[in-house]
Amino acid sequence: MLPDEAWLRSQVADATNLSRRALRSWQTTYDLAYRKPDAAPRPGFASWTSSFTREQIPQPDMEDWLAGTVRRLRALGHGRVLEIGCGTGLIVEALAPFSEAYRATDLSGVAIGQLRGWLDTRADLAHVETVHAAAHEVGQDWPADLVVLNSVVQYFPDAAYLSQVLDNAWRCLRPGGHIFVGDVRLLGALPCFVSAVELGRSADTDDVATLWRSIHAAWLSQSELVIDPGFFHDFAADRHASVSTRLKSGHSASEMTRYRYDVVIGKPGEDEVAFTSAAPTEVETMAALRSWLVSPGAGPVVLRGIANKRVLSDVIAHQAIGEAAAGLTVATLRQSIAARETIAGDFADPADLEEMAAARQLHCAMLAPPGAIDGRYDAWFGRSAYRGDPEVLGGRAAAVSQPLLFQVLRRFGADLLDGLSRVLPAGSLPTSVLPVARASRLNPPLYEIFNFSL
Ligand SMILES: C[S@@+](CC[C@H](N)C(=O)[O-])C[C@H]1O[C@@H](n2cnc3c(N)ncnc32)[C@H](O)[C@@H]1O
Repeated sequence: MLPDEAWLRSQVADATNLSRRALRSWQTTYDLAYRKPDAAPRPGFASWTSSFTREQIPQPDMEDWLAGTVRRLRALGHGRVLEIGCGTGLIVEALAPFSEAYRATDLSGVAIGQLRGWLDTRADLAHVETVHAAAHEVGQDWPADLVVLNSVVQYFPDAAYLSQVLDNAWRCLRPGGHIFVGDVRLLGALPCFVSAVELGRSADTDDVATLWRSIHAAWLSQSELVIDPGFFHDFAADRHASVSTRLKSGHSASEMTRYRYDVVIGKPGEDEVAFTSAAPTEVETMAALRSWLVSPGAGPVVLRGIANKRVLSDVIAHQAIGEAAAGLTVATLRQSIAARETIAGDFADPADLEEMAAARQLHCAMLAPPGAIDGRYDAWFGRSAYRGDPEVLGGRAAAVSQPLLFQVLRRFGADLLDGLSRVLPAGSLPTSVLPVARASRLNPPLYEIFNFSL
């Protein structure tokens, strides 16, 4: 089905209403998740579910993820901490003992109630204050050295809401302070992620055309905000701030290490006018990078287009799905994916590079350039912290996904099916309706719907 573009525009024009409804829906989702009988009333991983298996993400993967996140947070100044979307308090537990004041806030009243109950059993955390509020309602009036939004911005309704929250955070940030935006879903990698998840859920006996349809439906059901790193580079550039965007650290193969990144935005200190970056030397190969790391030169260095070892198999699968014939079975497709050896060029696990740098007291930053869907990334190394020059890493493509548009499209599909059920005999009703963008086709699944300019 091809919805009329003018009609779609009119629907999304009422963004405030849609946005409010989306916030309420996430609030209900999290209230229910935290209220589950197996959700212990203390910081924990109970609500963290894998998109691939729909089951809880294994504890060792979550511990690896948390340790990597906390390592990055502890490297920042954390005297007064404002946390937005604190959930059950995983970050509170790790950071509050080292802070002088801590304000933990969340949209879910159940989360805040449980966290308060647990904090009341911890005399050493009496300086932690809890507030039940949505992200856009906090931040204006509380001076902070660190504002934390970890694994939260994907639940924001749109880019305007994210900008409003970051603006508030920036206003309350003291000079020399940081905003940490953790676990951001990488927009460029989204097609690859959706393909990998749907292939994982397909039966061997399905044909490729069925898989394409399920990929298209999954694409439409994306209700989270997925963000290109350029968005944060633009935000920082407008405020003469530093910005560092890094793929997740850690060695587990969870969807977070594969498809998410962390952002640190730094406000210049009292005596700093603005942050500046030195132009790095470009090296061409991993071998050249390794020899630079062994005896680092004076200035920073960058290696571009490294294939990300963590997502190699998903990238190969994504390419194979796009090239397969419609009638092929998924079992045969899986065999052909297994037979494809690798993709060309240097490849490395980002966590290995980060550890090599840390062993030599060097700083590193790495990120997939905007639009890179094949898992390639650029890595930068230097003696002092990366200052976030958008020309070096990240580029300036400030694209952000549009969950509200998808919400309208899904409702359109459901209403249409409902309307059809009143005029068509039961046996001739379609089982589902998939709206498509003007130029898009289902065979193979394309992602133009994302580029709808409204
Ligand atoms: C995946 S959990 C992350 C919790 C915590 N930051 C952590 O890293 O463990 C996401 C949390 O964000 C909260 N959240 C979602 N949308 C929000 C919003 N608009 N304002 C404030 N909190 C929100 C949810 O209620 C949930 O507790």
